[in-house]
Amino acid sequence: MSGNTRRWWKESVVYQIYPRSFNDSNQDGIGDIPGITEKLDYLKELGVDVVWLSPVYDSPNDDNGYDIRSYTTIMDEFGTMEDWEMLLAEMHKRGLKLVMDLVVNHTSDEHAWFAESRSSKDNPYRDYYIWREGKQDGPPNNWESNFSGSAWEYDQQTGEYYLHLFSKKQPDLNWENDALRKDVYSMMNMWLDKGVDGFRMDVINFLSKEPGLPDNPHAAPGELASGADFFMNGPRMHEFLQEMHAEVMAGRDVMTVGEMPGVNELQAIDYTEEERKELNMVFQFEHVDLDSGPGGKWDVLPFNMPKLRENLSKWQYALMEKGWNSLYLNNHDQPRLVSRFGDDQTYWYQSASMLAIMLHMMRGTPYVYQGEELGMTNVRFKSIDDYEDIETLNMYKEKRAAGVSHDALMEKIYSKGRDNARTPMQWDDTEHAGFTAGIPWLAVNPNYPRINAAQALKDPDSLFYVYQKLIRLRKEHDIIVYGDYELLYPDSETIFAYKRRLGNKQLTVCCSFSDQVLEPVDTGEGTVLISNYQRKTSGRMSLQPYEAVAVLSERS
Ligand code: NOJ
Repeated sequence: MSGNTRRWWKESVVYQIYPRSFNDSNQDGIGDIPGITEKLDYLKELGVDVVWLSPVYDSPNDDNGYDIRSYTTIMDEFGTMEDWEMLLAEMHKRGLKLVMDLVVNHTSDEHAWFAESRSSKDNPYRDYYIWREGKQDGPPNNWESNFSGSAWEYDQQTGEYYLHLFSKKQPDLNWENDALRKDVYSMMNMWLDKGVDGFRMDVINFLSKEPGLPDNPHAAPGELASGADFFMNGPRMHEFLQEMHAEVMAGRDVMTVGEMPGVNELQAIDYTEEERKELNMVFQFEHVDLDSGPGGKWDVLPFNMPKLRENLSKWQYALMEKGWNSLYLNNHDQPRLVSRFGDDQTYWYQSASMLAIMLHMMRGTPYVYQGEELGMTNVRFKSIDDYEDIETLNMYKEKRAAGVSHDALMEKIYSKGRDNARTPMQWDDTEHAGFTAGIPWLAVNPNYPRINAAQALKDPDSLFYVYQKLIRLRKEHDIIVYGDYELLYPDSETIFAYKRRLGNKQLTVCCSFSDQVLEPVDTGEGTVLISNYQRKTSGRMSLQPYEAVAVLSERS
């Protein structure tokens, strides 16, 4: 099966850095590139192989760097190109690889291309973006932006609207334009020529829009609705990715992961099957959308473990023969995993370590988001003024105006807001968690005196060392990377258990999502590879609250 062709990116663990919140070296309250370089030995100690760096390009920061003003310049607040080159050199010296964020569905409205594009209808760059005339004094269609409001902005100068699926400072690029595509490919080649080891591609399955940009037919008259059916996985998507592969990736041994909201497992196979030469893997969203009700992300449903298990298992089975999975439970857009899927109070350590074991023993490439290895949690700031994220602030403004109470909105933000993941990294128990000696751009989580890296590194039983061990086990046992997957106890309300198999080996992983002691499960006889309860013996056992255990045995 081509899914088992050996590749370095299948055998790697990736660590995501959100630079603004990682480590501030110059006391301006904002994380920066030299701050990352200072912490490379920490990453080495953890054992990860690859760093995915969220955008560090020049940006007016409407969406914290996901609105790029120049693809070839480093953001002043983060340092200089020399700092970035030093970071790359220091990473490579330590055997770490660097994957850059690639944001090419849109730019900033301050990008030079957009300045040209909006200047006149016959400017050569006009067609680099998506311009349309309005309809009856309103926008060209009824699509809603991902950050609230219409996805269209009227531009006085030429009397037309431009499309922005995110903020109005993030105009969408027009991938139908050949010259634009060529410019993007040469920019990507420039970074690869500088030595980067791959790209994480922002909302990459949004590039090909349905011609005609039709209205969402299900919206109530005069209301906005998502246009997702007309811009996700659009008609030219595979063609664009294959072209990009041929122009950029061919002949280079680099890693690519495409962020793909709304992708299903069958589409993911097409995007990642090696012979098709598109991407190595995708970030799917189904498992992180399970707690979104019919009203979308902010319509929050309670966590349902059987649904999570069913979904992750479906992806495990689907991408076993062809394609490859990425494994993640949080990132800079998602709540902290222990708060969302575990118990960040009484069973904080047990549930965080169980979730880590559950994910890292699966088939696919695991991603660790900064602070996850410390068990960082969601945050509850009192005032909306303490929040910085544009998505959160726009939603709050819009829903307050529609009459929803402050308290109801804060509850939504506490469970789903993106700033949960963006509070500064907790390095130690000194003021501002050792992240900065200045005033942090976003306040630190008040639990930093208890949850921080210095503390974790001192304690041989800490979550940090659970992650370290999981990463090491992946290197020691091929079965963790290449073994196949079979779900066990599919009807249990509380147990997520599965078996991996490779050759004559078998790995049984049993995880409890309960705060009670459970009915016995059977791990089979073998060696306990990892346990969050210091369990030494295998076989029949009653799982303790949030216990996880992985047992390696010979197949009979
Ligand atoms: C996905 C990114 O992960 C998110 O942070 C960003 O706001 C949007 N894409 C727009 O670039």
